[in-house]
Amino acid sequence: MNDPNGLIHHDGVWHLFFQHNAGGDEWGDICWGHATSPDLLTWTEHAVAIPAREDEMIFSGSVVHDAADDSGLGAGGEGPLLAFYTSAYRGHAVHGDDQAQSIAVSTDGGDTWSPYAGNPVHARGRTDYRDPKVFRFDGTAGAWWVMVAVDADASRLVVNVSDDLVHWRTTSTFTDDRVPGIWECPDLFALAVDGDPERVRWVLLLSTNGPDGGAQPVVIGDFDGETFAADPEVPVGLLDHGADLYAAASWNGVPGRRVLVGWMGQAFRAPTEGWQGAMSVPRELTLVGGPSGPRLASAVVAELAERERPSGELEIDVDIEVVLAPAGIRQRRIRATLAAGDAEVVDLAVHAGAHERTVLRWLVAEGVLELDRTRSGQIPDEALTRPTRAALPDPESRVLDLDVVLDAMSVEVLAAEGVVALSEIVLPGADSTQVRIAARGGRAHARVTVSDLVPD
Ligand code: FRU
Repeated sequence: MNDPNGLIHHDGVWHLFFQHNAGGDEWGDICWGHATSPDLLTWTEHAVAIPAREDEMIFSGSVVHDAADDSGLGAGGEGPLLAFYTSAYRGHAVHGDDQAQSIAVSTDGGDTWSPYAGNPVHARGRTDYRDPKVFRFDGTAGAWWVMVAVDADASRLVVNVSDDLVHWRTTSTFTDDRVPGIWECPDLFALAVDGDPERVRWVLLLSTNGPDGGAQPVVIGDFDGETFAADPEVPVGLLDHGADLYAAASWNGVPGRRVLVGWMGQAFRAPTEGWQGAMSVPRELTLVGGPSGPRLASAVVAELAERERPSGELEIDVDIEVVLAPAGIRQRRIRATLAAGDAEVVDLAVHAGAHERTVLRWLVAEGVLELDRTRSGQIPDEALTRPTRAALPDPESRVLDLDVVLDAMSVEVLAAEGVVALSEIVLPGADSTQVRIAARGGRAHARVTVSDLVPD
């Protein structure tokens, strides 16, 4: 699997559709798989929701609940769920388009889906026009439906509006020189800075494939329902500094919360068999104010606390390496507040064993957080053996908070109140399950809670 698609919370159920090759563990013959969860933690996989066809693959998109049946595609007085996806035509173009936006309809709450007879519903005569995100815009001038999609190869966002979800009119396009590469999987949503309803800004989240690989730039600006304008004063941020998180998108239908999930595994093909790719831990997004403007912050969703079983809570002075958690399970959460003291470097080693370790390294004087996979186990690509670096928001700070979630094949790090995220795939051996901490050049102080993450 690759991108999450069609994220919607509907009738108490979290739906996660995803780019899926139902017939193999390589990308190809892509359709929409489907999983649901009552709590964002336990997922049940269902039958393929929207199958590929001989002449069409089903690329990324989104789902909305057309509660008022604006589309007229509902049944028995009930508004349908509508999936907006990209038809990627194979070996031929339809009306001159290789990619165009289509609809699938569900009148049974998302169990079964059928393509709309009038597909595609929006095309631009282009080869690379994809990844529609549809949402309801509710502004002072009225309410209507918005679809943002991308002219991927032209690094351009396309804003379309509709009253009935079937007929779409392009109102504007947007590009930004600060964001190079192929643009994919746009998401656009409003958040209140520091929770203040008087300070609402719009967040344009993109997935870009550029010269340095994949990234998820965050552009802050304003949106009036027809046009997005970036705020040139606010620097472009990154959702996550790691190499692997990609195509992350947020759920529709969750009033008051902006919950996001991303595909883990964009950077390389892991040596797994029979399956390939995974989703990140779901995260909740907020905007936090700062001197250079608002920044996107991520937190692990509160739901995960249900699965935490604290196995160690301690407050210690750190210099030489100590074991914080003995060998055991691989699913863990580590929350730490580090005070640098007179240390130059603080290392938190996870997935650690006799010969392996993945190191989260705080370079105190540089104000940098590194994720070092050079000894993390099997890394299939030489290029991935350099540590990934992220600049901390306050390079002078001698205190750092960390929230780290470990799964068998992943490390997800949220640092500095979630303003810095660093998530990557690792491939440690089954015995590499210790957590250790060490400081160099002096003595640091750490307050740490290590929890096992247990199944339901
Ligand atoms: C992003 C992406 C999307 C596209 C899908 C195809 O990973 O390339 O732009 O819709 O994957 O699987």
